[in-house]
Amino acid sequence: MKKLIAILSLALLPLAGFASSEGPELESADIDLTDHAAMQRGAKYFVNYCQGCHTLKYFRYERMQDFGLTKQQIKENLLFDKTKKVGDLMTNSFDPEQAAGWFGAAPPDLTLTARLKPGGGDWIYTYLKGFYKDDSRPFGVNNVVFPNVGMPHVLLDLQGMQEAVIETDEHGNKHVKELKLVQPGKLSPEEYDQVAKDLATFLTHVAEPMKLERQRIGFWVMLFLFIFFIVSFMLKKEYWKDVH
Ligand code: HEC
Repeated sequence: MKKLIAILSLALLPLAGFASSEGPELESADIDLTDHAAMQRGAKYFVNYCQGCHTLKYFRYERMQDFGLTKQQIKENLLFDKTKKVGDLMTNSFDPEQAAGWFGAAPPDLTLTARLKPGGGDWIYTYLKGFYKDDSRPFGVNNVVFPNVGMPHVLLDLQGMQEAVIETDEHGNKHVKELKLVQPGKLSPEEYDQVAKDLATFLTHVAEPMKLERQRIGFWVMLFLFIFFIVSFMLKKEYWKDVH
C-alpha cells in the first residue's frame, strides 16, 4: 500500500505546478472561454481594426458559428471582402513585403499568437492596453510588453493617448512604472478595457477552438487512467502473491 501511495503521489507531482516564468508583468484579462458575447464583439473589432494588416490564416469565417453566430450574420456583418465565402480562411490582401517596408516588420498572422506568447490572452490584453507616447518611434508610440513595436496604436481613437512614468532601478535600468491617460479617447478606460478583453478572448478562442472540449475529455481520460492504474496494481499484487 505504501508503495502505491508513493507512486501515486509522484504521478500527481506535476499538478503542483512549476509554472513561474520570467517576463514582463501582465495584467490579467480574466478570460472566460464560455463567454460567446465577448467573442462575437472581439470578432467584430478584429475585422474592423485588425484584419487590414493581420490575417487569421488557419481560421475560417464559418467557425464563428462555434460561438453563436449564424452563417447569415457572419456574411452580412463580418465578411467585408465580397469575393470571399463564409467557408474561406480569414486572410487579407495586404502584401507582407510592402508591409515590412512600412512597419519595419510584417504584421504576423495572429491565429496562434495567444498560444505562442507567454501569458497568452493576458499578453494580448496587456499589449492592447500598453501603447504609450514615444516620439522617438516612427509611429510615435511604444509598448510596455513589446518594446520598440512596429505596430501603430490602431485603437488610439478609442483609448486615447497614454504617457509612461519611467522609473530607474538601482542598476540604472529604466522601465515603465505606470501609464497615465493624457488625452482621452472616445471610450472611458473601463469601456476600453472591455474592448481589449473582447479582442483577447476572441484571439484566445481562435488559437485553440477546442480547448474546453479538450479539457472536458482530458478529465475523463485521467480519471479512467487513475482507476485503471489502481485495478492493475491490485491485479499485479494478486499475481505476484504466490511467487514471493
Ligand atoms: C496598420 C497595420 C496594423 C494594424 C491595423 C494592426 N496591427 Fe498588429 N501589428 C502590426 C505590425 C507591423 C506588427 C509587428 C510589429 C513588430 O514586429 O515590431 C504587429 C504586431 C501585433 C501583435 C504581436 C504579434 C507577435 O507575434 O508578436 C499583436 C498581438 C497584434 N499586432 C495585434 C493586433 C490587433 C489585436 C489589432 C487590431 C486591434 C492589430 N494588431 C492591428 C500592424 C498592425
